[in-house]
Amino acid sequence: MKPILLFLVTLLPALAADPAVLERGRAEEKRCVGCHGLRIVQVQRISRGAWDRELTKMTGWGSVIKDRDALLEYLVASYGDDKPLAPLARSENGANK
Ligand code: HEC
Repeated sequence: MKPILLFLVTLLPALAADPAVLERGRAEEKRCVGCHGLRIVQVQRISRGAWDRELTKMTGWGSVIKDRDALLEYLVASYGDDKPLAPLARSENGANK
């Protein structure tokens, strides 16, 4: 294989996460609601390493995660530190929830 092809084949998966993996990760995220809502997850904007530590922490507290790799990919792709900030949620009187 030409070096440039080899380079692309190696690099592409890192650039674009596989949609099937992200879908599995999104399904896995539903397990997180046993103890708290998803908003506390979805407002985060943290790095891959921080998400990895977060999953270790939640597992230590009793969270059951079946497909950790897919969940990590999904969290990084959705709520990574390169993503725009989550919109504020407001209650009816305008105060932050
Ligand atoms: C066994 C209970 C439990 C489960 C299940 C759980 N968490 Fe948590 N999580 C907690 C507790 C307790 C807190 C602290 C909540 C608070 O401060 O209000 C927390 C807080 C968080 C936070 C905020 C940052 C922090 O560390 O305090 C994030 C992000 C988070 N959880 C992610 C997740 C994800 C992702 C999952 C699913 C894989 C998950 N949690 C499942 C117990 C759990």
